[in-house]
Amino acid sequence: MKPNYKNWMPKGMIRGSAAGCAVCLVLFLVFGVSGLLAAGIWRTILTILFLVLTLVLLAVTVWMILLYRAFSYDGKRQLSRVIIDGVATRVVLPEGGCGLDVGCGSGALTIAVAKRNPKARMTGIDRWGAEYSSFSKTLCEENSKAEGVANTSFAKGDAVRLDFADETFDAVCSNYVYHNIPSRNRQEILMETLRVLKKGGTFAIHDIFSPLKYGDMQMFVQRLKNMGYADVRLVPTDDGLFMSRREATWLGLKGSAILVGKK
Ligand SMILES: C[S@@+](CC[C@H](N)C(=O)[O-])C[C@H]1O[C@@H](n2cnc3c(N)ncnc32)[C@H](O)[C@@H]1O
Repeated sequence: MKPNYKNWMPKGMIRGSAAGCAVCLVLFLVFGVSGLLAAGIWRTILTILFLVLTLVLLAVTVWMILLYRAFSYDGKRQLSRVIIDGVATRVVLPEGGCGLDVGCGSGALTIAVAKRNPKARMTGIDRWGAEYSSFSKTLCEENSKAEGVANTSFAKGDAVRLDFADETFDAVCSNYVYHNIPSRNRQEILMETLRVLKKGGTFAIHDIFSPLKYGDMQMFVQRLKNMGYADVRLVPTDDGLFMSRREATWLGLKGSAILVGKK
């Protein structure tokens, strides 16, 4: 059995956008081209409206298909695999230790870290909501089995309020999760993740750390240093490490970086 990590670009979203495009095209033909159901100024307004909507949704659909292809684990670029492996190399667990992957999706990072740290255990949590309906706890468990990895466990959970006591884990990691969470203060979500990290434990959190999504991350790095955290830094991954600047821009991943350090 082969693992199936699915795709960060859900097929349902591509289908939804394509369907919306088709509907707008039909409405453009009905109201605009045929002129059967509207006349005069209304015909002009509806023609322009549905033409613009058709073109916008067509562009969005094509962009989503290109994203799907770039992320695919079976495709040529395999960007997801590059990123997962790149983040996993930064998570080192002590023998008998335990790590947490926040927003594990289909289990890719949890399993990659568990493979690299066979004498430790990894837990993956995710809210597995409607927006990523192809990801599930069962899928994570099946992928773990397919990879021959037994030192993983998966549970439903929310990154905003983790169901773990303070200082539970030896390492915490995450990949492209927090920017998805609607919040005015994503730095506080990072603090929630760091709450469950043991003193001396390490973290590797990969996300789009743009000022729009996170505010001033340099100040956050300084805040952690002031709290006694060590070796805290943001390692950019959109400057050639995982992807080129150009690629990051068209993929919508500009600002990608790994926040690393030690509590
Ligand atoms: C782009 S996917 C990345 C999945 C996985 N980290 C990976 O690298 O393959 C984003 C994931 O974040 C999860 N997510 C979004 N909001 C969450 C929350 N509040 N708590 C936990 N997981 C969340 C989604 O369910 C989804 O699985």
